Amino acid sequence: SRDFLIAPSILSADFARLGEEVDNVLAAGADIVHFDVMDNHYVPNLTIGPMVCEALRKHGVTAPIDAHLMVKPVDRLIGDFIDAGASYITFHPEASDHIDRSLSLIRDGGCQSGLVFNPATPLAYLDYVMDKVDMILLMSVNPGFGGQAFIPGTLDKLREARRRIDASGRDIRLEIDGGVKVDNIAEIARAGADTFVAGSAIFKAAEASDPHRYDSVLRAM
Ligand code: DX5
Ligand code: ZN
Repeated sequence: SRDFLIAPSILSADFARLGEEVDNVLAAGADIVHFDVMDNHYVPNLTIGPMVCEALRKHGVTAPIDAHLMVKPVDRLIGDFIDAGASYITFHPEASDHIDRSLSLIRDGGCQSGLVFNPATPLAYLDYVMDKVDMILLMSVNPGFGGQAFIPGTLDKLREARRRIDASGRDIRLEIDGGVKVDNIAEIARAGADTFVAGSAIFKAAEASDPHRYDSVLRAM
């Protein structure tokens, strides 16, 4: 039986109190810190980079940090995130000129590697690199913003990704990102996901000043 992991996306956290927010969400039972990196070039938004990842490590965060790179080009930032203490580093295949090389850079740096698939990006990018990925991340929204609605067609794509993973016999996590809520997470799990990113569902559950606002959401997930 697979274990299920919850990865709150700090994109929806209160950035003015980020260390505290991360401490509280981990104390409430979250497993992984999902760290959305946007460059206003590959995606139309600008967020946080390796310095913030390093700051979270210095603050004392020991949980896995899942760096989701929505940047182009990707390779130089891979090195920066390895140095900054990331655990997983995932990137979008369209954003890399040399996917195999980018995956190898991540593993050579001692991190877990992953490819991210936009809603309309085919899983065929996996054909020759299943032995080089530790995680497959399916986007269930178009990347760039939190708070968007889950695209239903992603459920079939999850089933296909699950078949590919099972057929490979490899230990590869299947992560879903975008529009995950308490009321759809069970169906998403049945389609094959084992790692669940949730941003607005967790951090916008109540007033940002309430340090316990995550508790009931995480229990329900
Ligand atoms: C979108 C990001 C997501 C986002 C998810 O580009 O990759 O991680 O923060 O946010 P919600 O859960 O609000 O859809
Ligand atoms: Zn993400």
